[in-house]
Amino acid sequence: MKVANATFIKQCVTLRGHARFLKDPVSIIYTNCKLLLIYMFRLVCVNCGAEFLPDDIIYRCRKCEHLLTVKYDLENIEVNRAEWDRRPMRLWRYRELLPVSREPVTLHEGGTPLYHLKSIGKELGLKELYAKHEGLNPSGSFKDRGMTVGVSMALELGMKTVACASTGNTSASLAAYAAKAGIPAVVLLPAGKVALGKVAQALMHGAKVIAIRGNFDRALEMVYDICLSEGLYLLNSVNPYRLEGQKTIGFEVIDQLGCVPDRMVLPVGNAGNISAVYKGLCEFVELDFIDSLPMMTGIQAAGSRPVVDAIEQNLDMVVPQADPETVATAIRIGAPVNAEKVLTAIRATGGTADAVTDDEILAMQRDLARKEGIGVEPASAASVAGVKKLIESGVIDRDERIVCVVTGHLLKDPETVIKQCESPIEIDADIESLLSVLR
Ligand code: F0G
Repeated sequence: MKVANATFIKQCVTLRGHARFLKDPVSIIYTNCKLLLIYMFRLVCVNCGAEFLPDDIIYRCRKCEHLLTVKYDLENIEVNRAEWDRRPMRLWRYRELLPVSREPVTLHEGGTPLYHLKSIGKELGLKELYAKHEGLNPSGSFKDRGMTVGVSMALELGMKTVACASTGNTSASLAAYAAKAGIPAVVLLPAGKVALGKVAQALMHGAKVIAIRGNFDRALEMVYDICLSEGLYLLNSVNPYRLEGQKTIGFEVIDQLGCVPDRMVLPVGNAGNISAVYKGLCEFVELDFIDSLPMMTGIQAAGSRPVVDAIEQNLDMVVPQADPETVATAIRIGAPVNAEKVLTAIRATGGTADAVTDDEILAMQRDLARKEGIGVEPASAASVAGVKKLIESGVIDRDERIVCVVTGHLLKDPETVIKQCESPIEIDADIESLLSVLR
């Protein structure tokens, strides 16, 4: 057994092209000059700092059961921003900061538009209010960023079946990416509480769709247990690799805006997305690409607000809420799995959390559709509704540059849309009838 020196590792990295790299060269082992392992990242516990190899199939720390995160050897990863700029604005443009080394399973995710909300901004007295429309990803939500990375990692790790619990979008996305990868997907949904478009997607893409008579939190507990006992690969946001994909929302915002926004506002359910964006931006700081972080601000629904309570009451942990309820079914979650990560993201950046009522959410869904031409599902509108509330309560300054992430497309939840709108005007098929309704 020999210990590799830095030059050797560099040669191996060059040879393999896609190889991964471990910060501490003394832990590289090779026999007969054949490289066994080169890692450029490892899994690290956010609580006790224990480290695990990247190909360990674990979702929580083996020592203390807390969440894991992916830690890169940023000092040794070569990231050339000019090279990034030459690549198309898509998620894989940031591949050096993603864990996948194989050809990714991709449906061309990322590169979503950043819209300047001029009308709503004007009404709120905000000159710089933007919305990053994640509903324009392939399956209609930001989950595709997580799944292109998560499903690629599933293949890289040799996993044969992928699984998740979902309020809808995760299942739609997982089903699509599993189809692309040619592997089976199993999804658990809370029966009767998932928007129609999302169930339709999961079914059509060929996942095994199981509706449980219980809520999302219970579905997640069940799928977690089954993944551990049956060897399925879990792709909920407790999976640190999935969150790697989602962090690219923050990267794109920086590249599209050309600067760091003062605040980023995201709807919060399981709290994976806001934590992922924060994590990615911390990497940008470490790489000296930016020198400040936006105030990370999480918005929940009034009937489903465990993170808001923890922030307001300055608690060390999020106390699960037993019966969450909201029209924004995507964020109808009482026990967010990424609780410890979201508290760090909000507190470390001087951000905040607040809750908006279902009426406020639906009013903003209509405003986005009618004043900005942006069609989103209710959970997504929560972020902009939250900005309105925080402006009115004086928490947000009017000179802030704010980016809201709107997370899913309007067509995800057609029933909630139809309920809010008047029915089409039906007429006889003649010009006279047409003119009479136009007048
Ligand atoms: N917005 C939409 C449209 C979502 O689908 C979700 C989560 C969120 C916001 C909240 O993101 O959980 O990372 O805080 N949907 C998950 C699902 C739970 O199963 O589709 P989060």
